[in-house]
Formats: sequence, C-alpha cells, structure tokens
Amino acid sequence: MIDLTKLAQKCQITMDFAGKQLRRLIETYPDYFPMYTVNGKWQHEGEAWTNWCEGFLGGQLWLLYQHTGERYWREKAEYYSRLIERRKTDRNVHDLGFLFLSTWKRWYDLTGDKDIEKVVIEAGQTLALRFKERGQYLRSFVADDSLFIDIMMNVPIIYYAAQQTGNENLWRIANQHSLTTRRYLVRGDGSTAHEGIFDLGTGEFLRQSTHQGWRNDSSWARGLTWALYGFGTVYIYTQDARFLNTAEACANFYIERTPDHGVPPNDWEEAPNPSLPYESSAAAIAASGLLNLAKLTGDPARARFYHAYALRIIDTLTTPEFLAIDTPGWEGILKHGMYHQRKGLGVDESVMWGEYFFLEAISKVLSQQNVANRMWGHE
Ligand code: GLY
Repeated sequence: MIDLTKLAQKCQITMDFAGKQLRRLIETYPDYFPMYTVNGKWQHEGEAWTNWCEGFLGGQLWLLYQHTGERYWREKAEYYSRLIERRKTDRNVHDLGFLFLSTWKRWYDLTGDKDIEKVVIEAGQTLALRFKERGQYLRSFVADDSLFIDIMMNVPIIYYAAQQTGNENLWRIANQHSLTTRRYLVRGDGSTAHEGIFDLGTGEFLRQSTHQGWRNDSSWARGLTWALYGFGTVYIYTQDARFLNTAEACANFYIERTPDHGVPPNDWEEAPNPSLPYESSAAAIAASGLLNLAKLTGDPARARFYHAYALRIIDTLTTPEFLAIDTPGWEGILKHGMYHQRKGLGVDESVMWGEYFFLEAISKVLSQQNVANRMWGHE
C-alpha cells in the first residue's frame, strides 16, 4: 500500500526538479525543441525520424505554470506555443494532437480566448485531411497504406474540432478512424500492433506490422499505452462504451504483463536484455492514462485498481533510479526512456514525451492531494 503523503512529497520534489531542468534547458538552448537526449544531453545531431515532439516542451511549461502560477512559466509557455503555431497546417505528420492539445488547447482552456481555440480547430481540420476513404483510417506519416496506433492520441483533436464547429464529416472521420484502429490494431487479449497495412486499391486490411516494436505480432509498449490513453480520451468525446472497453482491455494487458514495479520493457515479447529492462516513457503515459481511466470506468473496484496501479508506477518513477535528480550532468528529468531501439535513437535516455506525460501524471496526483487536504482541513 502506497503512503499517499510520502508520494505527494515525492511528486512535489519532482515538480521542483522539473522546474530546474526545464529552466536550464530553455535558457541554455533558447528556441530549441529537443526530442531525446544522448548521454543525458539534449542538444546533438541525432536523427529525428519524424518531427512530432515540438508540443511537449510548451506542454511542460503550461503544466509548470498551472502548478506554480508563476509569470515566468506563463510567458515561456505562451512563447513556445507561438513558435509552433505554423504547424497547424502541417500535412507531413500525423501528430497534430500531440503538438496542439498539449499547448494551444491548454492555453485555450485557461483563457477561453476564441482566437486561441481557432488554432486548435485548424490543426484538427488539417489532421483530418489524412483520412483514407478506402480503409477508413488516418494515414501515418510513413505512407498512404499505413495506419499507426500512435494516431489514437491525435484523433481527439479532430473530435474536438468536430464538436466545436458542428462539422459532421469531421466527426465521421474521427469515429471511423477509431473504429478501424480498434478492429485491426487491438487484439483479443488487449495487446496492440504498432502498424496496420492496407490495400490502397480496395481498402482491404492486409497485415499488422511494426517499426519500434520487436516483431509484427508482438506488442510495442509505448504503442499499447498510446492506445490505453487514446481510447480513453475518445470515450470522453463519444460516450461509446466500445472505446472504454478497448482502453480497459489495453490497461489490463499492461498490468498483467508488466513487472510489479510498473515499468515495462520496450516490447513485452522481446528477448530479455538485462541492460535495457525499461521503457519509462510508456510507464509515464500509462500512469496518466490509468488516472483518467480510474475516473471513466463505471466499476468502482476497477477504478480503485487503476488508480492504485498508476500510483505504483509514479512511486517507481520518482525514485533516483528513474528521476535524474541524483545523476550529475543529466539534462532530462526522467531516465530510461526509449525512442527507436532498432534505429538506435534515444535508447535508455530521456525523451521529451516521457517528460511531458510524467509531469502530467505528477500534476494529477498533486491536484488530487490538494483537494484531499482541503477536504480534511490540512491546508
Ligand atoms: N512516433 C511516436 C512514438 O515514438 O511513440
């Protein structure tokens, strides 16, 4: 059983440490959007593979602003959000949800300013242009015939644009994409494939495949957590129980297959490699997604279970094995993340999305703890 007061203290220490690391990052490398560290350093010439991470820096700055209320973070959050505004029309990536939900959507939620919301809506409209009528999916960045599980984290921006504009076609695209992903990329045991390949002529689904996982029939850990979190978010928009069931199936697979500390390897089927036992960014995404699921599931016992498991992950990630607080010279916050093992990119390093979802999960714990303290008169 986790001691909640101690965990809240660890989360507070983590937030303070994150503030120091981020302040150093933006002051040492102004206007730079890092993706993964090399030997713990953010700036290097390593390949990006694709440009999908530029929202995670601004997103962390918004989280720090929300946590501290300090003007410094607000100004930096706005500044780094503005730097990516032009990406709202970017047709080269499938990641506009990652870019704009973590930045401009947070900004809009704080201000209610319709000019800010317009940017979010335009990004959603742009993403929808990737829809393939034959096959009924949003194509990935790699090719027309390719569907990625990762897109489940981005499709909510299309639902949002549809909801705010009343555009039924946008809603259809988002919903069909989610149903196609559920049908072809999520397996009966709740595991997920990274990629689906379609026949461009007929739209027929041909096979499951992978880029960042071990094998085509295995389950790449981060992909599964994108599904866990993404299907949960889609349920919030649609209230369609099929999406909640899918999110819970993915959560159950994660929990069954992961060691007790809560951090999976890069792929559950991969031959054990004692030097690379962790993919901490998947754990951070799972923790934040499970905190969401604990609120979404209609079953109180499962809600307690998801919540407790999320806290267990956070308890592990806030130890010095993962938190870089006792690692001199390390520029990231969370160690032992993995970007693309096969390509040798960001292997056992800090990764920008890991930092973002870790801080998001930590912020949720701290705000729940603040509510509890207020309720019991401890403030
Ligand atoms: N391309 C998204 C990811 O690496 O998770």
